Amino acid sequence: MTSFPIEVKDLKYTYDGRKFAVDGISFSVKEGEVFGMLGRNGAGKTTTIRILSTLLKRTSGSVEVLGMDPSTAGNRIRKRIGVVLQDESFDFTTVEKAFDVYGFIWGVSKPERDKKREALLKTFELTDVRKKRMWDLSGGQKRRVQVAREFMHDMDLLFLDEPTSGLDPIARRNILNMIKDLTKDGLSVLFTTHNLEEADYLCQRVAIMNNGKILASDTIDALKTGYNGLKTVEVKISGDQVGAESMFSKVTSGRVEPPIEDGLPYRIVTENTQETMQEIIKLAVAESVQIEWLNVRAVSLEDVFISTIAGGA
Ligand SMILES: Nc1ncnc2c1ncn2[C@@H]1O[C@H](COP(=O)(O)OP(=O)(O)OP(=O)(O)O)[C@@H](O)[C@H]1O
Ligand SMILES: [Mg+2]
Repeated sequence: MTSFPIEVKDLKYTYDGRKFAVDGISFSVKEGEVFGMLGRNGAGKTTTIRILSTLLKRTSGSVEVLGMDPSTAGNRIRKRIGVVLQDESFDFTTVEKAFDVYGFIWGVSKPERDKKREALLKTFELTDVRKKRMWDLSGGQKRRVQVAREFMHDMDLLFLDEPTSGLDPIARRNILNMIKDLTKDGLSVLFTTHNLEEADYLCQRVAIMNNGKILASDTIDALKTGYNGLKTVEVKISGDQVGAESMFSKVTSGRVEPPIEDGLPYRIVTENTQETMQEIIKLAVAESVQIEWLNVRAVSLEDVFISTIAGGA
């Protein structure tokens, strides 16, 4: 097996012949690693996964999946990959049957199917609902079946498009740990998520995408090192105060990132947290802005993500 199960160079894809949904991206995934594709809605993550997993033919660029070209070696590639797509599939069977059918399609023998199904039902905590029809499951239960049944067959490379969306925190953690374990045996994973804490936990390397382009790609540690020695001071303002914007525009001790959504704190990336906190309190008093809470923490992958998107937009 090649040591780069995925190699992509200058990949482009357009759905309508006008706009590129994927606009010249290059990256590679190493054997046994979890590579995370991060990006805002519409960035081009799912489109990239569809191309690599042989569901869409690229417009241009070069792509190698397990050393083969997905546009000509579709069948051979499909035998060795697993794909969990973002879109919900329609299933009319029971949970048990969904596992069995999947194993059958993959040519797994009946005794082996039974064994795998039992283990997966347990790991994914689906034993209680095993007799239920898929459409009677909760959203998160259905998602668990969709992810779990993919493990009915062996594979070298797994594509997971938002596998944890809708899962509760414990189910989420179980799935992440299971993926982590499988990579120890050499499985390579291309993974997308909007949960950056989970990307930080699971991925060795990530690519941050926006508008069809990769804005940054590296190990998470290296991306954070760009912020070496810096800390994030978070400041939550009580309610919706008119003076807040003017107050933060006067901060000079660090770089201010306004909240991306209502109700979230302002974030100030700074070298000197002491100075920043003093400055914030002084400004808040002067501008009569009330602070609800203030917090100091290390720079997170989310900080890197937001700055990268803001810088590259
Ligand atoms: N079937 C389609 N036909 C036309 N345009 C599409 C189609 N699917 C996606 N697009 C467009 O391509 C772009 C990239 O979409 P894509 O689904 O790859 O984004 P994404 O990064 O997976 O987003 P999300 O985080 O919301 O899943 C978007 O602008 C989207 O509107
Ligand atoms: Mg998507």
